Amino acid sequence: MCGIVGIIGKQQAELVILQGLERLEYRGYDSAGLYVANRTSSHLIKAQGRIKNLAEKVTPEVTGTIGIGHTRWATHGKPSEANAHPHTSASGRLVLVHNGVIENFDELHQTYLADHQFKGQTDTEIVVHLIEELMNQEDLTTEAAFQKVLGMIQGSYAFALVDQQNPDVLYVAKNKSPLLIGLGDGFNVVCSDAMAMIDQTHEFVEIADGEMVIVTPDKITIYDRQGTPVFRPSYEAQLDLTDIEKGTYPYYMLKEVDEQPAVMRRLVQEYRNEDGSIAIEASLLKQIANSDRIYIVACGTSNNAGWAAKKLFESLTQLPVEIHLSSEFGYNMPLLSEKPFFIYLSQSGETADSRQVLVKTNEMGYPALTITNVAGSTLSREADHTLLLYAGPEIAVASTKAYTAQIGVMAILATALGRQKGISAASDFDVFYELGLVATGMESLISEKERFSELTAEYLTTTRNAFYIGRGNDYYVSMEAALKLKEISYIQAEGFAAGELKHGTIALIEEGTPVIGIITEEVMGSHTRGNLKEVESRGAHTLVMVSENLAKVGDQILLPHVHPFLTSLIAVLPTQLLAYFATLQRGYDVDKPRNLAKSVTVE
Ligand code: M6R
Repeated sequence: MCGIVGIIGKQQAELVILQGLERLEYRGYDSAGLYVANRTSSHLIKAQGRIKNLAEKVTPEVTGTIGIGHTRWATHGKPSEANAHPHTSASGRLVLVHNGVIENFDELHQTYLADHQFKGQTDTEIVVHLIEELMNQEDLTTEAAFQKVLGMIQGSYAFALVDQQNPDVLYVAKNKSPLLIGLGDGFNVVCSDAMAMIDQTHEFVEIADGEMVIVTPDKITIYDRQGTPVFRPSYEAQLDLTDIEKGTYPYYMLKEVDEQPAVMRRLVQEYRNEDGSIAIEASLLKQIANSDRIYIVACGTSNNAGWAAKKLFESLTQLPVEIHLSSEFGYNMPLLSEKPFFIYLSQSGETADSRQVLVKTNEMGYPALTITNVAGSTLSREADHTLLLYAGPEIAVASTKAYTAQIGVMAILATALGRQKGISAASDFDVFYELGLVATGMESLISEKERFSELTAEYLTTTRNAFYIGRGNDYYVSMEAALKLKEISYIQAEGFAAGELKHGTIALIEEGTPVIGIITEEVMGSHTRGNLKEVESRGAHTLVMVSENLAKVGDQILLPHVHPFLTSLIAVLPTQLLAYFATLQRGYDVDKPRNLAKSVTVE
């Protein structure tokens, strides 16, 4: 979703801004813009569509020592140049970029700015007009007016503001939307994500909600809501350029699919103590053991990972597990058990829908764990505990390695908890050894890429719709398989409980409709085979993905045999590759599907 970059104190700020915006492309956007200035000139440029459209407009005279840039994912007002950021105040003196949603923008407009003309329809433009209005009406400095407006706003924001009359200062603030300060030698930067500025610095400072920061080339000063200066130490971002570059891969998604065996092995390395025991803090295990029910709250692929981990978690811990969609749970909370424990699954750790639930469960006093790929992310900071995915940056919008890493971490956590509770299933389960076998199985599937490309051409390239079906865990993998296929190839895909088809959805089966059956469990699998026959006799073009020990002659995809708790980790991989090849063969951009954002920071 929207991304912000800014820099102060460096020649050719425009180049840093453009590169930073490119590094934020993965978040999803539909327009972009930048502002650069020095003591003698300033330039404001916007473009609809991709960053390259913006870059084409950046001619040699567009240069400066201070700059801010923005990628916009439309919420208020359609994607257009007028609505793209940066936005300017009425006189043009102030220039602002914003990520988030100003909920009371209409009210602020009516109360303070009724006579103002706006260039676009965004909520952001009102903010920059209001800052200038207060400067004029109340004779406030830029800093004081900015601080005052922050107190009037309801909603989420990350702001970077420049006053053209003082190009030696960058004004920055955040509330609920991500923003970091990066420290350089004689310059400083701001960014939504450390990845955007990792070429400039590895030293970053977090900003807490409600804080405002005055950034100059040599100094940053953080103020809390009351205007009191706050000291916060910097930290070193553990990011390597090779982690965030495609290398020889045509798309990030393919690179990230291929990285999954290494991610499984990294989990083993990170979570195994030298004596073979599990490296998870005792206080976390104790808190979960004291609960009577686990609530997993997550969105999209992370929610699907929750489903895929449910059965193994219950089997290894004997604790009941419920899975909920964040966007539903916060506003439609079910009756909770007496001692709930919350697990937030989130690759980015920034998803606004999940965060709003965490804020509520924190207020209710319930303990929470965030399982995330991003150390220091909002969900990580605000939960009592964090377990990391160690998957490395996931840049393709379609989540792949984060899904498998989430299931891997849930398996490790459940094993540690089950062992502590004395549950024999957990003591008998050698999770690290089994994850090693999963890594090997994944490698063997990855080595057959060409085969998946051929199957895609046969089944998916030209179809309008498709179904994945399965039972139990295979049903949960089907949900993720369908999400992957539809979000990037735009094939209308459904993941369905195999036995449920005949209760209505089978009406959609036509001559040639692809139906892919996932089978990793013997008894349920034989029923799924029956359901595949039912759709076949109505014209469906069926494909069977089956654990090799259950395969029959004619089955098209054989899945390496792994422990029954971990079959989702193997079964999902061919579905990721089918989605990848379907998208390539249909001629779409694999990494940047339309309408989608990687990090969904608005509710
Ligand atoms: O960062 P999160 O895991 O919280 O993101 C949740 C969803 O937005 C995300 O999983 C989304 O569904 C994926 N991009 C789908 O591939």
